[in-house]
Amino acid sequence: MTDKKRILSGMRPTGPLHLGNWHGALINWVKMQKEYDCFFFVADWHALTSDYEKTGSISKYIRDMIIDWLSVDLSPEKSTLFIQSHVKEHAELFLILSMITPVPWLERNPTYKDQIVQLSNKDLSTFGFLGYPVLQAADIIMYKPFGVPVGIDQVPHVEITREIARRFNYLYGDIFPEPQAVLTQTSKMLGIDRRKMSKSYDNAIYLSDNPDVIADKVSGMITDPQRARKNDPGNPDVCNVFDFHKIYTDKETIDQIDKECRVADIGCVKCKKIMAQNLINALEPVRKKREYYLSRPELVDEIIKNGIQKARNVAQQTMEEVRAAVKI
Ligand code: TRP
Ligand code: SF4
Repeated sequence: MTDKKRILSGMRPTGPLHLGNWHGALINWVKMQKEYDCFFFVADWHALTSDYEKTGSISKYIRDMIIDWLSVDLSPEKSTLFIQSHVKEHAELFLILSMITPVPWLERNPTYKDQIVQLSNKDLSTFGFLGYPVLQAADIIMYKPFGVPVGIDQVPHVEITREIARRFNYLYGDIFPEPQAVLTQTSKMLGIDRRKMSKSYDNAIYLSDNPDVIADKVSGMITDPQRARKNDPGNPDVCNVFDFHKIYTDKETIDQIDKECRVADIGCVKCKKIMAQNLINALEPVRKKREYYLSRPELVDEIIKNGIQKARNVAQQTMEEVRAAVKI
């Protein structure tokens, strides 16, 4: 047992993780391991809500995601890392919560309306998609965390979770603390085409990209759009490559590039090469750990198995309380 306060968060396994995921969610998660009793899980049932027609890649993505997590230092000793669908209690709690959740709460959920429009290529008029936040509420309150680290887009879901917890407590007795959203700083990282970095835009640099791929992607990055020729002065303030420098390059070099770019003393090709090398260096430890785990599949199996067992122990206990409270 631990006296640390508990937090919990999850991610849908929709593909390999990129630098935006790293500097957004993951770095925060890694830091939180010091201070909190952390539960992190792969939300594979949630991936089904929108990708139910093509499920073939999900199991690969789950494992890749856990290896991505381990490579950036989420630690199986410090945190409980698990897979949602292996803790069946989530489904039972989801079912019970669905009995008490008014449909209008779900229909007015801003992310629901948003996604239906944005993912218009998929038929999302399903029961499961509408019920997404109920499953998420089950994921969360199962572990009675005080906080849920999420990006701003997920705040409405945590708000619905609080409402559902409140309603449960009102109907059946006080079992669930109301969890708080803990805002993780959102990454402003843009992709190589200057749009938001995202798998679906095909503009991402992945944690698992090898150095050659990274060098290649960086060389294709769009810079200051006003700077057409090497002799034109550039403006680092509007250059995406410069934003990457701010993360990966030392202060002195940044200042120098800042000055030289503005008077056309440095060309974009050279500037990108410097950045690519620093990014490759920053990812070197991540790459090493990835190789370590990739060459030890049984160790990864073991880590996943232990995480699931730890999560199950908590979930089973919660469900005993829930069944007793609901009298069923
Ligand atoms: N909805 C979250 C997302 O898309 C994933 C998720 C599912 C989650 N269950 C959760 C996040 C519970 C935090 C807590 O990113
Ligand atoms: Fe951007 Fe560097 Fe080119 Fe300046 S020199 S525009 S900072 S890539």
